[in-house]
Amino acid sequence: MNLAPITVAVHTLGRDSRQEFIDAVRTGFARTPKTLWPRWFYDDRGCELFDAITQLPEYYQTRTEMSILEEHARAIMERVRPASIVELGAGSCTKSRVLIRAAKGMGSLWTFVPFDISEATLRRSASELIDEFDDLTIYCVTGEFDHHLSQIPRFGRQLIVFLGSTIGNFEPDEARTFLTEVRRLMQPGDHFLIGVDFVKDEGDLVAAYNDSQGTTADFNLNVLARINNELDADFDLDAFRHLALWNAAEHRIEMYLRSLRQQEAAVREAGLTVRFAEGELTRTEVCTKYTREHVQAMLMDVGIRVVDWYTDPAQRFGLLLAR
Ligand code: AVI
Repeated sequence: MNLAPITVAVHTLGRDSRQEFIDAVRTGFARTPKTLWPRWFYDDRGCELFDAITQLPEYYQTRTEMSILEEHARAIMERVRPASIVELGAGSCTKSRVLIRAAKGMGSLWTFVPFDISEATLRRSASELIDEFDDLTIYCVTGEFDHHLSQIPRFGRQLIVFLGSTIGNFEPDEARTFLTEVRRLMQPGDHFLIGVDFVKDEGDLVAAYNDSQGTTADFNLNVLARINNELDADFDLDAFRHLALWNAAEHRIEMYLRSLRQQEAAVREAGLTVRFAEGELTRTEVCTKYTREHVQAMLMDVGIRVVDWYTDPAQRFGLLLAR
């Protein structure tokens, strides 16, 4: 029998996520261009599709970041020697497992604090981790980046990790607010490890978001399926097409759903009728790509200091350690 302590703290602060979804759909479809925020991709089906994306031949990011972690986890942990690792957006904890293994090997680590929007995912990940690290205390926190970071408990000298280039899905002002919150969680001796996808050949970037199997298209269209299921809407999924465009000025991939004809859809739970012109685009995600200088400037702007970069040989992806 496994008696290791898993603590799950659930912070929802009385927020009603269904009402937030309704509000987001109302606000987003009233914008020009129409906008749906990436947060709403991740229902159960969306999480499954994202997992499938991470295995795609064209989507190099996940395996490249994993290879950097495997190569450098020990060196990172020797520098940081954390008592606690906090992972923001932890999901399946596959990548943090590599860091935990390295830190446990050095005997410094006591606590792992995965933070994620999905309680079910955290419970599953925590029990899988306990199978390998049976003396690790896991304190799960369920919450959202824009509301609950301040609720994360502190268990001594910590390494905060934010992997997968998820920062790239934030608008610039959201990224700044997020990093300011991370800075607030940090005390002298703490470190921050952030994974970022670098600017690279446009063809490679577009292929990563427009894969040949159509998985990213299904992921993108799933947000309409989710509105249909949860808000009693009647979007015709066959009447929209997935689009991934490189915006060179903003150095980011932008994902859209293009309306293939003039049409309207009712979102009954939101009391809304949404009208689309033929060819009209709804923006569903931005995926910003970075240079080293860009990331360093963003961190320095909020008072986080750069320690070192870790990258793959082709310099496709980078992990920045900061304090
Ligand atoms: C979660 N995030 C970092 C992914 C990305 O690459 O921006 C989400 C994604 N969207 C389409 N493919 C993957």
